[in-house]
Amino acid sequence: MRRAIYPGSFDPVTNGHLDIIRRAASLADELIVAVVANPSKKCLFTLEERREMLAGCLEDLPNIKIVSFAGLLADFARQLDAQILVKGLRSAADFEYEAPMAHLNKSLNSGLETVFLLSSPALSFVSSSAVREIAALGGDISRMVPVSIAARLKDKFSL
Ligand code: COA
Repeated sequence: MRRAIYPGSFDPVTNGHLDIIRRAASLADELIVAVVANPSKKCLFTLEERREMLAGCLEDLPNIKIVSFAGLLADFARQLDAQILVKGLRSAADFEYEAPMAHLNKSLNSGLETVFLLSSPALSFVSSSAVREIAALGGDISRMVPVSIAARLKDKFSL
């Protein structure tokens, strides 16, 4: 069983994340999307809201599990018996940030191989913080997130 893990804050999930998830799911037997409880990041949505919003966007993919976790990713991957850590790269800046993380994770869990997928060019400018900011200011986010996520943001900001 080739099990991969794709971690992130997903505050909220964007079309950029979903593109990586769908492509990663086709490469693994099982893809675990792990929503991280990161105490150093102040999130707009709760951990459970982020998990449930992701689940709503991925109902059609049978080999995906969505879980939440707190703690070290390398340990969590070991617990799940995941051998592949998937990360998306939107730019060279993402690579600069992700390369040391990949080495650190490898040093903490030698059985975990980081695999990078390049973002689709049309989505390489999307980020959760941009989506949050544009939504808060009443801008158009329809090309950046699914309809269900845009609706949740609209509710959050009571527009
Ligand atoms: N499409 C759109 N946006 C993307 C994206 C994609 N394909 N890939 C990344 N992003 C964006 C996110 O939207 C987010 O945007 P924002 O900062 O504007 O809100 C940004 O990239 C960062 O993503 P995030 O999910 O918050 O990840 P992170 O880089 O902070 O790392 C973990 C998250 C879970 C991988 C990391 O915190 C972790 O491993 N935590 C566990 C603790 C641990 O093991 N630490 C040691 C690591 S060596």
